[in-house]
Amino acid sequence: MSPEGLVAARTGRHCLALPSNRLGLYLALRHWCLPGQRLLMSPISADEILFLVLAAGLRPVIAPLSPDDGNIDVGAVDLDLVDAVLTTNLYGLPDRVTAFAGKTVIEDVAHAMETTVEGRQLGTFGVAGVFSLSKHAGAGSGGVIAVEHEEDLRALEAERDRLLQPRVLAAEIRSVLTSVARHTAVRLNLVRPALWAMRALGMEEEREGHRIAPRPGDLDEALKHVPELPPFDSWVQADLHDYRARRGGLSRLYQARRLRTLPGQRARRIAGVRALAELPTVAGAVHRHLDQPLFRVPLLVADREAAIAELERRGVSTGYLYDPPYDDYLPGFVELSPEPEVARWWGRHALPVDPFYAHRALPVVRELAAAPPPPGDRAVRSARRPSTPPA
Ligand SMILES: Cc1ncc(COP(=O)(O)O)c(C=O)c1O
Repeated sequence: MSPEGLVAARTGRHCLALPSNRLGLYLALRHWCLPGQRLLMSPISADEILFLVLAAGLRPVIAPLSPDDGNIDVGAVDLDLVDAVLTTNLYGLPDRVTAFAGKTVIEDVAHAMETTVEGRQLGTFGVAGVFSLSKHAGAGSGGVIAVEHEEDLRALEAERDRLLQPRVLAAEIRSVLTSVARHTAVRLNLVRPALWAMRALGMEEEREGHRIAPRPGDLDEALKHVPELPPFDSWVQADLHDYRARRGGLSRLYQARRLRTLPGQRARRIAGVRALAELPTVAGAVHRHLDQPLFRVPLLVADREAAIAELERRGVSTGYLYDPPYDDYLPGFVELSPEPEVARWWGRHALPVDPFYAHRALPVVRELAAAPPPPGDRAVRSARRPSTPPA
């Protein structure tokens, strides 16, 4: 079965194959929103997402963050002030998607391919759910957009084909081989030498801290061309330069094969979530999702950078760090959150741990001191773990 066929079977929706999740998010934003509309989004997500929103000509309205799960703090937003919502489902912890009823909701389910809410697959609540095949499935690249109506799928398909660049076979082979090598290195506990080799070969993207360089001057230029995507390529392609290159049979076979490994990984992933949930540093919402094979388990620790270095020494690499929040990353280009402090706190202290390899991380993360409490009274209340006795 094709990758989109496998996701269609999971979601019961009409599905379209994509070279990346990010291309699908752009297609969805263009299809369901009009340039100039206001889009509510979390301040904590992958760098490229903010640039997609800007490329689509939308006004990013940055939401306050819940310290409980690192997603939009629904109780603190005025939905009357926005036209649409983009959820993140950070690390697989679900956004409160049903609270956005009445708005156009586009679900970024890059991290949430294995998350269900009351038995229903995430990515089936909004007008579109956009999956990434490089996360849980670890297929190196690839995405799938899932939509309710076939006519929407046809329109998205036409727009996808307009934006696709020609297939580059050599790049496709390299991408699949790199992905296979990554899995082998992780399985054999050879992450440290693999990271060293990648750095020596210049395969790591240049960063300013944890984010790619925002280049506001260049961004002003690109914004003259909205809602066209190509002028934003230099930002959107972070870590995936062929994000809109056509893929052929080799990638599709590999993606489908990787997707079929997910059911077999489920029990071990859930066991890892449960083991990590025992730690005093774990984000509060994890306790409510102990039956979910999360993509990562967020811990909130005092000294995140030291922890990352120690984990790397033990052969565990840490990715998916989104710091600083969008407000501080590109302040001139977004509508600032009314309460940016919790997002800053989360950005600084969140340490995502892969539950599939929890046994490797536990000797290090068990020893970590907890982050200071999140700023603000409401934040402290909602972050409090269910087992914490009242003060
Ligand atoms: C939350 C989130 N959304 C979307 C993406 C983009 O996914 P893709 O690389 O498939 O375009 C990422 C990638 O890291 C991500 O972390």
